[in-house]
Amino acid sequence: MIEPTEAVDRIAAATGSQPGSRTLHAKGWFFEGTFTASPEAAALCRAGHLQGDPVPVQVRWSNGAGHPRNKDSGSDVRGMAVKFLLPDGSATDLLGQTAPYFPVRTPEDFVELTEAVATPWKLPLFLALRPATAMSLLGNFRAGALRPPRSYAEATYFPIHAYRWVAAGGDERWVRYRIVPVDAPAGRPAGEFAGRDRLREEILARLERGPVVFDLRVTLAGPDDDPHDPMSQWGGQADLSAGRIEVTAAVPDPEGEGAVVVFDPTRVVDGIELSDDPILLFRPAAYSVSVDRRV
Ligand code: HEM
Repeated sequence: MIEPTEAVDRIAAATGSQPGSRTLHAKGWFFEGTFTASPEAAALCRAGHLQGDPVPVQVRWSNGAGHPRNKDSGSDVRGMAVKFLLPDGSATDLLGQTAPYFPVRTPEDFVELTEAVATPWKLPLFLALRPATAMSLLGNFRAGALRPPRSYAEATYFPIHAYRWVAAGGDERWVRYRIVPVDAPAGRPAGEFAGRDRLREEILARLERGPVVFDLRVTLAGPDDDPHDPMSQWGGQADLSAGRIEVTAAVPDPEGEGAVVVFDPTRVVDGIELSDDPILLFRPAAYSVSVDRRV
């Protein structure tokens, strides 16, 4: 298995990452809001933030690239990271991006794919050896995952990994999330947003009109759905709303004031458990290396 330090070094070299910035998703902005869980979620999972009382959330919208000054009009995945702040002082994180299909199964392949995309002559050979990766990338292209969205508020975000929900009575279900915009066209602000930071300008203007709302959807796994493989496609047994995320305002970057904010997909609370997905389990160590480099 590749070492997290080597992975981050190679990703940074491929993506033009800058000192002081995240190695990936370098350009981003912080927001605050609330999350209110649905009764269906409370019935299936005992986690503190899923019981129905509103809890605060910290949100960071980002562009996927490693360079912190890239143009919002560029082709790229976009990220939406959400930290749910529970009343007992704990927190749990969900990190979504606009690509519905994850193209690789191992951290090594993730690093090699990042390098191949940055060096286009390498990409055809990489894909020729990995037809499933080529199909995923085609699926993402068809879904418009890299197309610049009109707004961070109008994109759907996919956290990819499966998590096990444990109910108060002990019943267990594997779930996969989607963060889906609600009535987004109705919230469009007047004006044209065309500059380098047009997604930030648009979302600030939109928030002046009212909260930006997302439905946190979950698919419950069917008997044949594999929770441990980030590339697996699920048939799913049911699809339900786990609750509403309402983003209400922009907040200053807490890292400008010396705090460190890390969104970690393995940060879970009682009632939510991790799969054996090798990509999921690798991420916290890689993120720690990136944090060490940027603070
Ligand atoms: C082996 C696979 C992966 C590696 C090596 C990797 C690496 C990284 C690194 C180094 C960062 C910067 C962390 C920091 O400085 O705080 C980052 C951020 C991020 N990654 Fe990943 N990543 C991987 C997979 C994924 C997947 C599967 C998703 C989405 C489902 C994802 C979504 C994000 C998002 C949204 C951020 C920005 C978080 C923020 O706003 O602070 N990554 N990634």
